[in-house]
Amino acid sequence: MAPTPSKSDKFSFGLWTVGWTGTDPFGTPSRPALGAWDYAEKLAELGAWGITFHDDDVVPFDAPEEERKAAFKRLKDAADSAGLVVEMVTTNTFTHPLFKDGGLTSNDRAVRRFGLRKVLKNVDLAAEMGASTFVMWGGREGAEYDSSKDLYAAHARYAEGLDTIAGYIKEQGYDLKIGLEPKPNEPRGDIFLPTIGHALALINELDNGDIVGLNPEVGHEQMANLNYTHGLALALYCGKLFHIDLNGQRGLKYDQDLAFGHGDLMSAFFTVDLLVNGFPASPDAPRYDGPIHFDYKPSRTEGMEGVWDSARANMSTYLMLAEKARAFRQDSRVTELMEAAGINELAQSTLAEGESVADFLAQEDEFDADAKGAREYHFVQLQQLAMEHLIG
Ligand code: GCO
Ligand code: MN
Ligand code: MN
Repeated sequence: MAPTPSKSDKFSFGLWTVGWTGTDPFGTPSRPALGAWDYAEKLAELGAWGITFHDDDVVPFDAPEEERKAAFKRLKDAADSAGLVVEMVTTNTFTHPLFKDGGLTSNDRAVRRFGLRKVLKNVDLAAEMGASTFVMWGGREGAEYDSSKDLYAAHARYAEGLDTIAGYIKEQGYDLKIGLEPKPNEPRGDIFLPTIGHALALINELDNGDIVGLNPEVGHEQMANLNYTHGLALALYCGKLFHIDLNGQRGLKYDQDLAFGHGDLMSAFFTVDLLVNGFPASPDAPRYDGPIHFDYKPSRTEGMEGVWDSARANMSTYLMLAEKARAFRQDSRVTELMEAAGINELAQSTLAEGESVADFLAQEDEFDADAKGAREYHFVQLQQLAMEHLIG
């Protein structure tokens, strides 16, 4: 039987996920659109803990101020009465055609000034809603043609925008952190900050980079043919894993946004293993304890029943994998094989404590190259144990 989620699991959903009506480049909606506030109760009933949204998921882009205020209040009231936290807020700087060349990196300066204002206004909203993370997915920040941009200036404008927003958050004293969400392409041919590594590099150059980190998404890293779990590990190592977007993707194609686990299952297993168990030989390493946020799309073939089935699927897959990952780590055969595989040894520093490079170079270790070349690591056997736990 599928496990039942509860608030302590910290599951949260973007309103644009269950709220996606199925519109795609080839077809009109296959499901009705409800009001943003109409999703809260059902999500809470299914066991969710939080919700997230873009400004434009709640009110139309050009709604007058009074209407905006009323809509956000209505949403907050619905979340409160359902017992849901608004844990993250994000800005839509991609739907309106004005953003067709980007929000913070458009060649058109007036567009950039408009985009920056929209984001800053949304920072205030995020604080008001009690959110702790402010996600920035730069879907339109990019290009189709390398002739279309001064790519140095584009990165400078991106950094300028991020620094301005992070600086504003600090100035206002908001308890908010920015989570950048990398994606390699779609909707732009090439999106700036296409991977976790690219984003970390730019964050390093910011004046206010201390409150800027990552919101990596499973499918986005996989669209770049990268290993999501490795990406999470690097972000954790850098102290920058602020939020996550879990979903499913099968190979190098368009952003599928399948339910979590419905793509690369083995990869999902090790992602959950990292999230619930941490690193196997580094007990003092940073751990992720933020929301388990799903950013998926209920497939267009589904009606409203399918929407709720798929929301449930994300959570129960996560819980099933968590159970299996715990059992994997507690299996004494796994412990032994990890030892044989040298996993604990990797946590030992390569130089001895206090050993200088000069000392190191002055003496050679006893070392048998051929014996090391013939060493067994037992990695396949260990992986097969994971398989046994996963599907055995
Ligand atoms: C996508 C992205 C978005 C973002 C969202 C939050 O590929 O469409 O994943 O869903 O997560 O815009 O900023
Ligand atoms: Mn996506
Ligand atoms: Mn996402």
